[in-house]
Amino acid sequence: MQTLLLSASDPAAPALAAELIRRGELVAIPTETVYGLGADGLNEAAVAKIFQAKGRPQDNPLILHIWDARQLELFCHHIPESAYALASAFWPGPLTMVLPARDIVPRTTTAGLSTVAIRCPDSAVTREIIRLSGVPIAAPSANISGKPSTTTAQHVLHDHDGKIAAIVDGGPCRVGVESTIVDLTEDRPRLLRPGGIGPEQLISVLGDLVVDKAVTAQLGNDDIVKAPGMKYRHYAPQEPVVIVSGSREAAASYIRKHFIPGDRVLCFEEELPLYEGCSPLAYGKEADVTTLSAGLFAALRELDDPAIHQVYARCPVGGGVAYAVQNRLRKAAAFHIIDAEEET
Ligand code: TXA
Ligand code: MG
Repeated sequence: MQTLLLSASDPAAPALAAELIRRGELVAIPTETVYGLGADGLNEAAVAKIFQAKGRPQDNPLILHIWDARQLELFCHHIPESAYALASAFWPGPLTMVLPARDIVPRTTTAGLSTVAIRCPDSAVTREIIRLSGVPIAAPSANISGKPSTTTAQHVLHDHDGKIAAIVDGGPCRVGVESTIVDLTEDRPRLLRPGGIGPEQLISVLGDLVVDKAVTAQLGNDDIVKAPGMKYRHYAPQEPVVIVSGSREAAASYIRKHFIPGDRVLCFEEELPLYEGCSPLAYGKEADVTTLSAGLFAALRELDDPAIHQVYARCPVGGGVAYAVQNRLRKAAAFHIIDAEEET
């Protein structure tokens, strides 16, 4: 199959993409977080193609993307007041809510769960595609399962050229890490995945938030998970990643001491001079965490190279979107963290 590349600025793109979605084809769509691999979320055969193209485990449910918050009631029931409050505060935007699913949502989309994850993305072209297609679009991140997510149309082309009907190129994703997922089906709201909306922002609306264990620790095979996707190896290049925490100087001294040829250093731009001779790759500025979230997955993709032996990574501290960057890097490192202040 020839994969069609459509530009988001082409006025014909939304109608063309919507037509492909209606026909049950796969179309990669830009969002503010990452590119999604979209299909008609109500069409089981179309949804099955997503799992196949990504090599995604069948028990890992998909997010339904809607174009307007008012569509929530079409696909969910028993919607608490807190969901409306979150929608009015953060939609369109990088927030996904888990709510009880209506029967119209196929169990292929929810991987057999009675709940559905739903979000209204902050991309005008993608919302227009959803509106014109007349169906909610199921879309996971467009990467091959287990690999770093796709934040440019070129990343999607790399993973799916010739396998999907079209890619809508909306340029690099602004946020760069996936949406925050909050489960509203229990007594207390539960953070299943940190993302573009920080925990403090959620608490400012909800007044309460439980952080799921999957966010903060490596889960074992026997752990019961709320977000099935959290138990899989994720976001990671093929070689081991080790996070080195501590001050700039302590980290540089630890890394320089242990560095061997074939290793790489993933650091902040401000740190580049400290790693001369150690093949450093900067993913953004520590002083501006939005550049770190926007640059993280492209950097992890660049480091996904069989010639690399090990990656030493520097990770931002703090809340907001830094919390999501920490989460993705910790997962890429399988929670392997070395405190340089103690080690040197
Ligand atoms: O920013 C994003 O959310 C991107 C863009 C494309 O919208 N999408 C995305 O989808 O990250 P994906 O499939 O890569 O991650 C969705 C996560 C998975 O961990 C999945 O297990 C979880 O959401 N999930 C989906 N439905 C769920 C449900 N009903 N209950 C709990 N977790 C759910
Ligand atoms: Mg994903």
